[in-house]
Amino acid sequence: MQNLKNKTALITGGSKGIGYGIAEALLEQGMKVAITSRSAAKAEEVAGQLSQKGEVLGIGADVRDFASQQKAVEQVVKRWGQLDVLVANAGLGHFAAIEDLTVEQWQETIDTNLTGVFYSIKAGVEALKKTKGYFITISSLAGTNFFPKGSAYNASKFGLTGFTQSVMLDLRQYGIKVTTIMPGSVATYFNNQQPKEDWKIQIEDLGQMVVDLLHMHPRTLPSKIEVRPTQPSQQ
Ligand SMILES: NC(=O)c1ccc[n+]([C@@H]2O[C@H](COP(=O)([O-])OP(=O)(O)OC[C@H]3O[C@@H](n4cnc5c(N)ncnc54)[C@H](OP(=O)(O)O)[C@@H]3O)[C@@H](O)[C@H]2O)c1
Repeated sequence: MQNLKNKTALITGGSKGIGYGIAEALLEQGMKVAITSRSAAKAEEVAGQLSQKGEVLGIGADVRDFASQQKAVEQVVKRWGQLDVLVANAGLGHFAAIEDLTVEQWQETIDTNLTGVFYSIKAGVEALKKTKGYFITISSLAGTNFFPKGSAYNASKFGLTGFTQSVMLDLRQYGIKVTTIMPGSVATYFNNQQPKEDWKIQIEDLGQMVVDLLHMHPRTLPSKIEVRPTQPSQQ
């Protein structure tokens, strides 16, 4: 996929943070980009802002609902005729020791970060077979390193890392590439933070990483990428 102009992408959870950064980077390459949010109004508002950079569609679609993922893929194909890239990015984190972690927090984490990615990829497979497209999942270093108060998040991201690698083996025979990106700390709104620290990975850096992956020669597939701040905070 060396010329990205007029190629199309669907990014789950593109209303802010990493998904937004990837959307901006792909638009700058001349791609047409759909972003999703749990809120249709929010998706449309952010799509309006991004439309200064190119053609954007904002779709209300909760990744925890398979039918809404199917509809999002259908909307992209109806609008632009094809789907080339699907970035399964939407995710959240609840961090608490096991005795404090609630059943609802566990379920929301697994349903969003793991089952939600399964739904998104399942919904996109047939469209991507037609384009020999590219699936990218946003896992985390928490998908390979465990830490206290991380049981739900670690479980979701360890699961996602394994899921994505297995799907990569299933789909590469069709010429579909699958990569999981595993970032360390990124400056976003994740877990009610504000994207203010300069030492963290910035969203445009991950946008650049996705562009670089899409530009990689078709014969070569970086399947799992760990990415971390060069100089982490000493706190
Ligand atoms: N920030 C980090 O340090 C870091 C590090 C490693 C990995 N990650 C991963 O990166 C991904 C993006 O996180 P972020 O840091 O960009 O966080 P963020 O700034 O909080 O953005 C999260 C995005 O996910 C969307 N989202 C959440 N639940 C959703 C659902 N059920 N359906 C659809 N969209 C949903 C949100 O949209 P709405 O709120 O508008 O619905 C928002 O666009 C996550 O998978 C996260 O685990 C983050």
